[in-house]
Amino acid sequence: MCGIVGYVGKQQASTVVVDGLRRLEYRGYDSAGVAIVANGAIETRKKAGKLTNLEAEIIQTPLTPSHTAIGHTRWATHGAPNDVNAHPHVSEDGTIAVIHNGIIENFAYLRDELLASGVTLRSETDTEIVAHLLAAQMPASGNLADALRAVCQRLTGAFTLVAVQADTPDLVVAARRNSPLVVGRGNGENFLASDVAAFIAHTRQAIELGQDQIVEITPTSIVVTDFFGQPVDVTEYEVTWDASAAEKNGYDLFMLKEIAEQPKAVADTLIGRIDTDGKVKLDGLNLSDEYLQGIDKIIITACGTAYNSGLIAKYAIEHWTRVPCEVELASEFRYRDPILDASTLVIAISQSGETMDTLMAMRYAREQGAKVLAICNSNGSTIPRESDSVIYTIAGPEVAVASTKAFLTQIVACYLFAMYLAQVRGTAYGQPNEQIALELGRMSAKVDLVLDTSEGVRAIAKEFVNSPSVLFIGRSVGFPVALEGALKLKELAYMHAEGFAAGELKHGPIALLEDGVPVFVIVPPLGDELHDKIVSNIQEVRARGARTIVLAEEGDESINEFAHHIIRLPKCPALLQPLVSVVPLQVFACEMATVKGFDVDQPRNLAKSVTVE
Ligand code: F6R
Repeated sequence: MCGIVGYVGKQQASTVVVDGLRRLEYRGYDSAGVAIVANGAIETRKKAGKLTNLEAEIIQTPLTPSHTAIGHTRWATHGAPNDVNAHPHVSEDGTIAVIHNGIIENFAYLRDELLASGVTLRSETDTEIVAHLLAAQMPASGNLADALRAVCQRLTGAFTLVAVQADTPDLVVAARRNSPLVVGRGNGENFLASDVAAFIAHTRQAIELGQDQIVEITPTSIVVTDFFGQPVDVTEYEVTWDASAAEKNGYDLFMLKEIAEQPKAVADTLIGRIDTDGKVKLDGLNLSDEYLQGIDKIIITACGTAYNSGLIAKYAIEHWTRVPCEVELASEFRYRDPILDASTLVIAISQSGETMDTLMAMRYAREQGAKVLAICNSNGSTIPRESDSVIYTIAGPEVAVASTKAFLTQIVACYLFAMYLAQVRGTAYGQPNEQIALELGRMSAKVDLVLDTSEGVRAIAKEFVNSPSVLFIGRSVGFPVALEGALKLKELAYMHAEGFAAGELKHGPIALLEDGVPVFVIVPPLGDELHDKIVSNIQEVRARGARTIVLAEEGDESINEFAHHIIRLPKCPALLQPLVSVVPLQVFACEMATVKGFDVDQPRNLAKSVTVE
């Protein structure tokens, strides 16, 4: 959700902040704003719509030069996305400006208190009340950091708050509870942001703030305390990627770049994790063999695309390890009273590591005594920090809102864990680990090969641009691939799209079929026990007028007479096929949205990092 940037230092602060916001725009993009401190006063500019509107506003009405600024891109929760509700929000006396990510749950109570004391509210946001509470607190506290400490103790919910004050140039103060905040340590300048991407062009030295902490940055100091002013230890780390990794590098869209990066992301996620003898080693796993031998259930919890990767992982985990595995939407998990104990391992999958539903689910699991393994793409983010164990996916920064390369690497990371578990428990059921390791090692090249089908897939997208809906069917691991294909199409092309287990068609969804409806069919490899069953499903849908787009491995001629279009997949074992079969579906959704003229990287109503429940 919302992107936050703060800066103090020698550069033109508003420029640094707007550049940072550009890199965070994926987090939310329905309005944007900045505040600067100059000549003992606060100046703000804010605009509804994308960041370009704010940039135009700043060109039209330039800000006074300043070395201290905060900025925000918004994903609206309280109040419509308009100029007034855009952040920053300023206190009535104009001395304090605040930006916020999260939801203040006791907002209504605090608003009524402020109204009763005579304050006039200008916006519908929960954020504005913090500006007024801070102004009211200043006489008692005497400085901005102490005032923020006092105010934070009154707030419930999730928040990252960043504030500046007119009388104290060269100081930005921030607080964090349940929403992300990182500090960037520069040379004679310091940064605050929701994500390191905002300041990576200036410094790679980062500090992740913990829960209920306050940070004060000046050009030469970073002071971190808890909400009561007690100093806390912080861990500083170096970001391993550079600014160019978060650029488009010649591609028209981040999504196209990220689709193309998938072979590398798969290879990078495997590097150093499989020995020459096929043994898996997972540094940092931090779960003893004894513990892993004792677990009797695995629950995977995640949202959206990460959830779909978990659905695929379940097949491999149960097949290779014989440990029962459930997959649960994180937003549902803790509300259904799940049965968990010390012998349950919960796997929380998250690209961002900040998804609130997943974070709350894993916290709940830990409270119940279960251990949590995070599978995550964002170093130092909250989910891995609060987990017992972590396997990082090495996809590099994923900027397009629709997840692509993270999905493939989530599958790879889950498979590595499944192989490791099989190794530790001595269960390598089905296939020996060495053979799986060999096949997994070949997948990067196969993902590269399937990218060669992209031109043909784009042509298919153009053919169906006027279809009112698109269906996707698959069996076994092809079923979650169908769900993922439908999810991509919904979020990017705003089309009705559904994924079904092919065997379920005749139990209801087949009624949706009529002349010309495009149906994608994911066919397992030749020889798989489900292969012939899905060939029958293709015939069933074709007989009812559907246009069939069949994804089948090279050399599978059995589908030729039933397919209107064929997309060829490189040969690979059935369990690994999702790594190639999902790629044409990503390309299809991307092209469909492009042809329809939609913003592929920033689809409407969405945000990359969903930090509210
Ligand atoms: C879809 C998409 C979302 C995310 C979901 C979880 O393309 O990107 O469905 O997968 O919001 O996000 P993370 O993985 O950051 O927890």
